Amino acid sequence: MTNATQPIILTGDRTTGPLHLGHYIGSLRSRVQLQHEAKQFLLLADTQAMTDNVGRHQKVTENVVEVALDYLAVGIDPDKSTIFIQSQVPELAELTQYLLNLVTVSRLERNPTIKEEIRLRGFERDIPAGFLTYPVSQAADITAFKATLVPVGDDQQPMIEQTNELVRRFNLTVGREVLVECVAVLSHVPRLPGIDGKAKMSKSLGNAITLGATPDEISKAVHDMYTDPNHLRVSDPGQVEGNVVFMFLDAFDPDTAAVDEMKAHYRRGGLGDSVVKRRLNERLQALIAPIRERRMQFERDRAGVLEILRQGTMRAREAAGATLSEVKGALGLNYFGS
Ligand code: TRP
Repeated sequence: MTNATQPIILTGDRTTGPLHLGHYIGSLRSRVQLQHEAKQFLLLADTQAMTDNVGRHQKVTENVVEVALDYLAVGIDPDKSTIFIQSQVPELAELTQYLLNLVTVSRLERNPTIKEEIRLRGFERDIPAGFLTYPVSQAADITAFKATLVPVGDDQQPMIEQTNELVRRFNLTVGREVLVECVAVLSHVPRLPGIDGKAKMSKSLGNAITLGATPDEISKAVHDMYTDPNHLRVSDPGQVEGNVVFMFLDAFDPDTAAVDEMKAHYRRGGLGDSVVKRRLNERLQALIAPIRERRMQFERDRAGVLEILRQGTMRAREAAGATLSEVKGALGLNYFGS
């Protein structure tokens, strides 16, 4: 883990709610793998979550431990990965402040993800400045650790571009290579839809299956899942495209030959939704059961979880502090020596 030739990974999640199967497929599963190959920092992005949750700060802080529990439950090993809380690393806020001078307001307004989020949240002209500038705080998160790899969803790619612009701007300004550029590591699995067929699974849309879901919650979610609305009788030919049950089977059933066989049967007609759903339910129950068990074990030991976060945060402060000293030194902000 301290091997200097290992890549450094930084990634994280906003702490606005517990994580769900979409996160599992999109990022958690690969983070469990990556922790053996890289020095991995996992950020609980509570500061960032505050930027669009003004007045809902309690939701943000309550979910810090929830997300940490999800990490531990899926098998993130705190001895291999450093899990830490963004707000408790003041070095990140400090670095953000210096980077903010290297970006214009109009460049911030052009970030496509920010534009889309402003539209979704209906901010119009009343955009919190902290929200508009969160890509800069994200750049601080990444560069403070000299991370070279940043696993993210495709909606986060503009953040990586903006980070690298800031890195180049900073290094050019101070005339030396202090900060390090990074690359986005995109997941190649298709995004998991919500159980209602909406493009994105999300807790707030109420179409998610969380990682702590009970057996009944899983069964109910599968039962309610959107299929082909025109597949009325078992004998009718059914549509597989856009059919959430099949999309989930593609994501979670390792027996692709059996799934292909079911798809063909469904298209021909003669295969009922209930049969396909039963299979998916079995797969999801088997996947989530051990995750839920581990989550419950950690939940019973909240003090232990907080201790993991405290130690991770200390390690993160040390790493970010080293970069911040270099940054301040390069800017001549070392009045009292380094
Ligand atoms: N923006 C990410 C999200 O919305 C969270 C995040 C904050 C992050 N800082 C980061 C992701 C740094 C990767 C790298 O989920």
